[in-house]
Amino acid sequence: MVCLGNICRSPLAEGILYNKIKMRGLEAEVDSAGTAAYHLGEKPDRRSIEIAEKHGIDITHQSARQFEMADFKRFDKIYAMDMHNYDDLVSMARSPLERQKVEMILNLVHPKQNKSVPDPYYGGKDGFINVYNMLDEATEVIANMITEQTKKE
Ligand code: 4NP
Repeated sequence: MVCLGNICRSPLAEGILYNKIKMRGLEAEVDSAGTAAYHLGEKPDRRSIEIAEKHGIDITHQSARQFEMADFKRFDKIYAMDMHNYDDLVSMARSPLERQKVEMILNLVHPKQNKSVPDPYYGGKDGFINVYNMLDEATEVIANMITEQTKKE
């Protein structure tokens, strides 16, 4: 899960998906990162922590990090929150395989529309509620895909 700062959107995406995986008894590695290094080592934004907590999800243990080249190998899928993140990731990719791992997360819900999860950093609490709901819907699709994949294995 990748956004700009790794303190608002992607920590929520990580926490929500991790929770769904745990609740379904699945096994998958979930992590998040930012394309920028502004907030390295910081906990998620207080407003992300609050909206997650409201839904019974604890994200306080997370610590912001920057996306690194090794992530292209470490993960099967890399979900970008918005078009800037997507473009940054694709420009870092060294092969078609790495490029193909990168996807706009909301395309899981609205195929091919390239909709962005809006950056809530400079807005109010409503922005975080909106982001939570979008990510809850998108990560449900991912959890369904992992469930299907697990059945095949
Ligand atoms: P995020 O939000 O990319 O969802 O973590 C932001 C966090 C910090 C900044 C911008 C967006 N910033 O400019 O510091």
